[in-house]
Amino acid sequence: MFTRSLGAGGELRPLEVWHAAEFADHLDRAREHVRPWVGPSFVTDTVDGARATLRRYADGAAADGARLCGIWSGGRLVGGVMFVSFSAAAGSCELGCWLEPAAQGRGLVTAAAGLLLDWALDERGLHRAEWRCRADNVRSAAVARRLGMTLEGTLREAWPYRGTRHDQQVWAVLATDRPAR
Ligand SMILES: CC(C)(COP(=O)(O)OP(=O)(O)OC[C@H]1O[C@@H](n2cnc3c(N)ncnc32)[C@H](O)[C@@H]1OP(=O)(O)O)[C@@H](O)C(=O)NCCC(=O)NCCS
Repeated sequence: MFTRSLGAGGELRPLEVWHAAEFADHLDRAREHVRPWVGPSFVTDTVDGARATLRRYADGAAADGARLCGIWSGGRLVGGVMFVSFSAAAGSCELGCWLEPAAQGRGLVTAAAGLLLDWALDERGLHRAEWRCRADNVRSAAVARRLGMTLEGTLREAWPYRGTRHDQQVWAVLATDRPAR
């Protein structure tokens, strides 16, 4: 449908229901790497589960809410970025991301999330974009920092995972924080 170059051989494209089998294959490479850091409903084990995730985001996009884009490299789906939430009425959104291990370290997610941020704040006129991550997710927090976000606070023990509750950081950038474009 469309392709945006991310540099480093990466491309951002819509990730839609018809990609279910490809998304499931990708999850086989990414599952254990992402499991501790993302919501449990994202970590599915079957093509039907992958399709249900894509369907949920497609329904969100149809309602101008949550939506998902994939990152491809060398013709292979290697990760993605999403609006976990998006509200034009409230003027705010939350971004999320993931990569399979082999695709880390090339700036792909920073570039992709930057495109989503530009779309939300510049094109759609939202005022606030958030990034929430487990407080010990150093790589995720580094992306938020590279996107120009500020660490606004820590939600204590807000993230349950396998019987332990972890702190969660809230990062955000406001449209007025960014240089005029
Ligand atoms: C969070 C996650 C997507 C970050 O991946 P990442 O590769 O560190 O992030 P980017 O794609 O933006 O790449 C940044 C890395 O590429 C390097 N890089 C190379 N070229 C770059 C460029 N042009 N721009 C920015 N960074 C570049 C950076 O130095 C950095 O590497 P370093 O941390 O070793 O210094 C990944 O660790 C992941 O999938 N984790 C599991 C799931 C997860 O935590 N999701 C987020 C939930 S909140």
